[in-house]
Amino acid sequence: MTSLPSAAPGDQRLVQPRRSFCATLGLLAMTATLPGTAQAPGAPERPPDPHPLKLTEATREDMSPGKVLDYRRLGAFYLMADERGIYALSAICQHLGCLVLSEGASGFGCPCHDSAYDFQGEVTQGPAKRHLNHHAVRETDPKGLLLVDISSTVPPETRL
Ligand code: FES
Repeated sequence: MTSLPSAAPGDQRLVQPRRSFCATLGLLAMTATLPGTAQAPGAPERPPDPHPLKLTEATREDMSPGKVLDYRRLGAFYLMADERGIYALSAICQHLGCLVLSEGASGFGCPCHDSAYDFQGEVTQGPAKRHLNHHAVRETDPKGLLLVDISSTVPPETRL
């Protein structure tokens, strides 16, 4: 068994490294709290859904401009339509990952820290800084039910 060397009283060799270690910790803590140096927290990574293809009960004919169908329970998204077509908007807030709620004519609001998004998923009020993700939507055969791939992220202007 190996024993650690014992320090003689007044031996500065062991005291000095501890002091410098504590000073380094203090500097790190101060740096982390200075404005502009702290990392902004992002939405936490969620484990990938093993079944990312979500079959809705809606068809193209069900989706008229202004329609918003809530599929938060099926796969954390909203199926929507505007004059350009059908699209799927993630319900996962880009601040810290809470599920946003449909707030009628004003778009979507996050109950956690009050971020707000319009119907295109653009941020209208922070603290969120990024728009909601858009997912790919396609029609299935033979019934024409709409299928959303929540593992995909498509450009916000994408429509079916
Ligand atoms: S999680 Fe913070 S505003 Fe949505």
